[in-house]
Amino acid sequence: MSFPFISAEEAVSHIKNGDNVGISGFTPSGTPKVVTGALAEKANRLHQQGEPFKINLYTGASTNDYVDGALARANAIGQRMPYQGNPSTREAVNNNLIEYYDPHLSHATQDMRYGFVGDLDIAVIEVTEMNPEGEVVLGAGLGMTPTIAKMAKKVIIEYSSYYRTSFRGFHDNYLPLDPPHRREIPIYKPTDRIGSPVLKIDPAKIIGVVPSNESESISSFTRLNDVTHAIGLNVSEFLAYELKNGRMPADFLPIQSGVGNVANAALYGLAENPDIPRFEMFTEVVQDAVMDLMQQGKCSFASTCALAFSDDTMLQFMDDIDFYRGKLLMRPSEISNHPEVVRRLGLIAMNTALECDIYGFVNSTHINGTYMMNGIGGSGDFCRNAWYSIFLCPSTQKGGRISSIVPMVTHVDHSDHDVKVIVTEQGVADLRGKSPRQRALTVIENCVHPDYKQLMWDYLKICEHGHIAHNLRACYALHQTFKEQGDMRLTDFSRFV
Ligand code: COA
Repeated sequence: MSFPFISAEEAVSHIKNGDNVGISGFTPSGTPKVVTGALAEKANRLHQQGEPFKINLYTGASTNDYVDGALARANAIGQRMPYQGNPSTREAVNNNLIEYYDPHLSHATQDMRYGFVGDLDIAVIEVTEMNPEGEVVLGAGLGMTPTIAKMAKKVIIEYSSYYRTSFRGFHDNYLPLDPPHRREIPIYKPTDRIGSPVLKIDPAKIIGVVPSNESESISSFTRLNDVTHAIGLNVSEFLAYELKNGRMPADFLPIQSGVGNVANAALYGLAENPDIPRFEMFTEVVQDAVMDLMQQGKCSFASTCALAFSDDTMLQFMDDIDFYRGKLLMRPSEISNHPEVVRRLGLIAMNTALECDIYGFVNSTHINGTYMMNGIGGSGDFCRNAWYSIFLCPSTQKGGRISSIVPMVTHVDHSDHDVKVIVTEQGVADLRGKSPRQRALTVIENCVHPDYKQLMWDYLKICEHGHIAHNLRACYALHQTFKEQGDMRLTDFSRFV
């Protein structure tokens, strides 16, 4: 069977108000770029005519402006799951224009297969190669594509000619069986391949093929500054010390690194430290830093869900693609983040926090416990199950007016049971084996910015006795002071007790 080329406008005529729509890719990588723009235009047109039009959008993780941005601005998203990071979607989520459901990324696809969000009406899948039997080679991100290809009643293919080199061999498409038939995920080392380089889509479901030639549109990362550089060096010194003292296997452990500028800096920190040996990664996203590390010979292999390279780096990658064959492997998010595999491999998991508290609770998602930033992503998948769960953040934000280390976080994504190490540019707090009181002492001593240290000691003095000592009237005094006076440093606890 060969499939007809159709226009994006014709493709979206098959998408109806209220449809559940699944999208390929993970981060901007591997997401459709043309069909969703036409869908946003359709929504705008219908809204102008007074007609309702919203879809429920299911993705591997965050997408790009072609998907989230365009659809959110067109007010065309009803329910959204899981991670997002687009400013327009964020605004709509926080204005309750989108019903946002934020599960762990490793759970999102099984939630769909278990039927928690209903049937999937349509999938829009970016491919880079396909044959008449419906076997496709995906693009730079895998995400939840095997699940949506299986579940969707209809499939629109977006055929990308942007990639001038073949991606065949960079994917490991695999779908676990669902309970009660599930078996172990047979990954025993990061390099193990368990699935297929191609994904088979039922040809009978394919409506047509929309051509596209758009890049992922990922901009370059912010260069390291003094703070992110210091965080990276602190992490690498901590890990080198652990290695020297025999608290991990002598040949090191695989690395997982989160998203954003700080996580990128941590990887450069590892590269700079001669005591950190060559390592492998088992991670969810590979960003620009990993390509540099591979070129330097510091990273020998990375299992990932996406190649989230900036556009310039993607061009370099394509120029040099043969160097990376056998060094990079993309898996579905359900597998790249699978807690079973994370625990088995014993990962060093490094993720970024918005705020941490003195007892080791971490908020990765909600500013002031209220305003959604992005979502939990894979941080929970990795954090609970890793050998080391390390959270990184600058000790202050907004020119020092906010302390990232606070008496009590305003929202808990990761609890004291899971968080093992906190790192800021000030230093490292190793929380393993410590009681809450011991944790508070080490976090304040090692991680808090000097401008806030005395405030934290003052807070401990006004806490009531108990296993985790708090003062419920004063635990958010810093946040309240920021709200009222724009600077947490002006906190006066006497106002709150
Ligand atoms: N209070 C108020 N604002 C805060 C804040 C706090 N405690 N902490 C950070 N911010 C603001 C920053 O000032 C910045 O604002 P700006 O965009 O106006 O400059 C913004 O939040 C992002 O902070 P930044 O330090 O640039 O973070 P980042 O790019 O390293 O991303 C997270 C940090 C937490 C948002 C990001 O890592 C994330 O979404 N994590 C959750 C998911 C996850 O960990 N996934 C990885 C699993 S593989």
